Amino acid sequence: MKTALDLPQPNTTKTKSDEKFRKYLSLCTLVVQNSSLVLLLRYSRIMQQPGQPLYIASTAVFFAEIIKFFVCFYFLYRESGKWSIFMSTVNEEFVENFSDIYKMVIPSGLYAIQNNLLFVALSNLEATTFQITYQMKILTTALFSVVLLGKRLSRGKWVSLILLMIGVILVQLPASTKVATPATDEDTNLMTAQTPLIGLIAVITACLSSGFAGCYFEKMLKRNATSMWVRNIQLGIPGTLFSLIAMLFNDGMAISTDGFFQGYDFLTWIVVLNQALGGLLVAVVVKYADNILKGFATSLSIIISSVVSFYLFNFYPSPQFALGALIVITSTFLYGRPERVQ
Ligand code: C5P
Repeated sequence: MKTALDLPQPNTTKTKSDEKFRKYLSLCTLVVQNSSLVLLLRYSRIMQQPGQPLYIASTAVFFAEIIKFFVCFYFLYRESGKWSIFMSTVNEEFVENFSDIYKMVIPSGLYAIQNNLLFVALSNLEATTFQITYQMKILTTALFSVVLLGKRLSRGKWVSLILLMIGVILVQLPASTKVATPATDEDTNLMTAQTPLIGLIAVITACLSSGFAGCYFEKMLKRNATSMWVRNIQLGIPGTLFSLIAMLFNDGMAISTDGFFQGYDFLTWIVVLNQALGGLLVAVVVKYADNILKGFATSLSIIISSVVSFYLFNFYPSPQFALGALIVITSTFLYGRPERVQ
């Protein structure tokens, strides 16, 4: 297997500016994709025709995995250039190097657990508490970038990361902190059924998983010259299996009664495509930038989708939203500022 060091190193200015262009293009596309996904998802869950059932979310996640799988094979074929080279790559990477798929079970399994833990956290914590505590993943990602990837972050970069976390928390704080009062007996039961400690443990575990799985995938992606599409397929094989199990386990009954595509319309397919695109973009961003910069991109998209919500869903930005947005933007510039070599 060729490693990055075995390959010829074209150390030209053009290659560097090309890489810079890809880095910023992938980050900007992730910002746009993430912002539109939030809005489309919300629209698709609330805009039903009379009598139209709600689509089953786990089927959307499963179809997104399948689409990613085919798109990755298509790009791998394009990258290979010839059918014979493509087939020998498939044989080498997925048959001879089958053990690499086992290695991807770790991040893929962690992502599957993480996605389920988020439901546990949301069922046991108030939405705002959840959103605030989940921003800790910015710091766990930085921590695992240092521990797993050997990145060195200056004091200035740590300050930018902490500022980013504070900014996102402020952005997500509700305009008023009304105490929720149960409207019905059923609501009372739901509220008393919440166990904040379980919710907190779930969200902390999800943050650790997000940081670890992200950096593990980055390490696998950057450790040699193996194609990004190969790595994504290796991640996608167990990922598709996990999402299939989750879908059948959680919604098997509903699917067997009313089918896979109950409640699907054009918008649902747009959401599925957008979700698949998001997964692919994560890989592109991690390849050309890194997990920490991905955190900045997703934080900026929280602001953009909130501002667009202002027009679409009558969302009124509070003073703390404006302050939080300012802090997020400032921290992004601070983090990206070139530092003097000491
Ligand atoms: O919150 P966090 O950034 O950890 O979420 C990452 C999400 O991106 C997970 O839901 C994971 O399933 C998805 N992902 C993907 N393809 C990758 C890496 C992550 O679909 N190559």
